[in-house]
Amino acid sequence: MITLQPIGYVRTGKRVKFDALHQPEESAQEQHVLEMVPGCGYEDGLRDLAGFSRIWLIWWFHRNTTWRPMVLPPRGPAVRRGVFATRSPHRPNPLGITPVQLLAVEKGRLILGPCDLVDGTPVFDIKPYIPAYDAFPDERSGWTGEVDAALTAPPRYTIQWSAPALAQAEWLAREWQIDFRPRLEELLGRDPTPHRTRRIRRRPDNTFQIGCGGWLAGFTVAGDTVLVTGLEPGYPARLLDQAEHQAIPDHAAQVAFSAHWKVDSREQKNLKKAPFD
Ligand SMILES: C[S@@+](CC[C@H](N)C(=O)[O-])C[C@H]1O[C@@H](n2cnc3c(N)ncnc32)[C@H](O)[C@@H]1O
Repeated sequence: MITLQPIGYVRTGKRVKFDALHQPEESAQEQHVLEMVPGCGYEDGLRDLAGFSRIWLIWWFHRNTTWRPMVLPPRGPAVRRGVFATRSPHRPNPLGITPVQLLAVEKGRLILGPCDLVDGTPVFDIKPYIPAYDAFPDERSGWTGEVDAALTAPPRYTIQWSAPALAQAEWLAREWQIDFRPRLEELLGRDPTPHRTRRIRRRPDNTFQIGCGGWLAGFTVAGDTVLVTGLEPGYPARLLDQAEHQAIPDHAAQVAFSAHWKVDSREQKNLKKAPFD
């Protein structure tokens, strides 16, 4: 048993795991903050760091409680891989590593570029990213190389929105600044087939749904066309009304959505886990 203490916590505003990409999108115009735990001398520890444009964060997947020897990576075909051959959060010691842009060093905090950490993630360590030690771009990259090659090809599926679904998405973006259309289109454009990690399921009526943060989107597939048919809150209204569910992401927006669009979420089989993880 080894005891570690976080040296800081990131503030990324990404409330659910769905909001955080699988690896940072380097070109995104994002700024995040790593707040160092005060009173521990870490300000001095940050000296000389400002000369580095990139740092490693070593952090804890604190939202995870389980691990599995074989995991289903979110990208690529539905093939399970050994957990140590992946960057999955479901690890026996759930440590994450992210090489992140360092934009500024301020008193007791670091300003970071794009990152793949949810808000409040504990950070255990920071190390400078040193290209001479850390970059080996010509090494073999196993199964991820094959998946990357497939991902650089144009998306196979065309995404269409039904008029009601588009109106719902536009309402959510306008009234609540919630817009998961780009992520949804990217996921469904690559592969809309059922996939546990991508949270795509076949519904009993043979249509499909995909989980998007705290929301669900229904869709159908015909040939190479995906038609998004409607959005739903991840939780049925009867649960949204209960006090113990007030903390779910976008709770107020989900209640307002149900009322405005007269849509109630279908009962999901595994309500505790499924919709908003
Ligand atoms: C695939 S992992 C990769 C993390 C890291 N770059 C690595 O390679 O170790 C990134 C995903 O972890 C999830 N995630 C981010 N912060 C988390 C946290 N604190 N607890 C659990 N999962 C988290 C998000 O869903 C994100 O898409």
